[in-house]
Amino acid sequence: MQTVTLIEGDGIGPEISAATVLAVEAAGGQFTWERADAGAGAVTKHGDPLPQATIDSIKKNGLALKGPLATPSGGGYRSVNVTLRQQFDLYANVRPAKTIPGVPSRYTNVDLVIVRENTEDLYAGVEHYVDPRRSAAESIAIITRFGSERVIKYAFEYARANGRKKITLVHKANILKMSNGLFLDCGKEIAKEYSDIEFDDMIVDATAMKLVTQPERFDMIVTMNLFGDILSDLTAGLIGGLGVAPASNIGYANHAMFEAVHGTAPDIAGKGIANPTGLMLSAAMMLDHTHQRDAARKLRAGVVAALGNPETRTGDLGGKANTKSFTEAVIKNLETA
Ligand SMILES: NC(=O)c1ccc[n+]([C@@H]2O[C@H](COP(=O)([O-])OP(=O)(O)OC[C@H]3O[C@@H](n4cnc5c(N)ncnc54)[C@H](O)[C@@H]3O)[C@@H](O)[C@H]2O)c1
Repeated sequence: MQTVTLIEGDGIGPEISAATVLAVEAAGGQFTWERADAGAGAVTKHGDPLPQATIDSIKKNGLALKGPLATPSGGGYRSVNVTLRQQFDLYANVRPAKTIPGVPSRYTNVDLVIVRENTEDLYAGVEHYVDPRRSAAESIAIITRFGSERVIKYAFEYARANGRKKITLVHKANILKMSNGLFLDCGKEIAKEYSDIEFDDMIVDATAMKLVTQPERFDMIVTMNLFGDILSDLTAGLIGGLGVAPASNIGYANHAMFEAVHGTAPDIAGKGIANPTGLMLSAAMMLDHTHQRDAARKLRAGVVAALGNPETRTGDLGGKANTKSFTEAVIKNLETA
């Protein structure tokens, strides 16, 4: 049985984590959970938002499931999410967006996956003010052949493993000829090794427009950090918002972290009404990642069925259920999956 570091997180984190563990186990997921602290709760308990014991646990297990973590704005400690991505070199951020019947959204036919480079670009942290008066500032986008090739290869391998047919590489190489041009060149080279997967490229502004007007045109997108950050929130919006969007962060040596994309929802924390869909679907990705495909399929089917019925859908999506009754409905629907 594989051990997973479970970071319940802050705010609604403990509620949605408990619900997710119940649903994963009911679906037949074979995991042992090792609980570890991070975020505001860890500051209170240990005086550290990312205790060494948590890092050691992820290092040992290679797998983490993470609830949302509170990040103070403008000061305080650095984002634990960003630190974890860097610490474990989690270079590929995978964000699927698939229409869920019953969840209010503008489209009924979205089924795409964004693979975002997670470590470079304008997020590499290379920025400074040009003078002490802060009259100007520079942020430098770092794009390396190494960083580009590994994430593009990951996208092609993901496509093969998951029956995806086409990858669109998104860039702005018409203007950013060197940095984005390098990413595009890497994509064109690597695409030659995967003749079974269709490949094209698209400029990011045109992509934003096409995602909104013709999302069914896309199967997979691979792109750099900044564009991926923005476009993956856009695609979450196509399927009903961040509350139902899952994500995984993949690194070497099979290190991977699966996370709910939404925040800690402090306004509803402790009320028992949080929607655990984002974390449950992230856990389904973790089941796929560990080759527990049947349990993943069951868990997804249970979530989709529970969301499809207004009686068992949670209040944030206009339904009547709370976290407990939603989770019960997910588990009940696993049986029919
Ligand atoms: N991945 C992460 O760990 C992550 C991501 C975003 C924000 N945050 C942190 O979360 C805190 C609050 O951020 P915010 O208020 O901007 O965003 P938020 O996502 O926590 O909340 C925005 C709104 O969506 C609702 N909501 C969010 N998730 C929900 C769920 N699962 N079920 C029902 N309703 C849900 C909230 O009640 C709120 O009204 C901040 O400290 C922020 O730094 C963490």
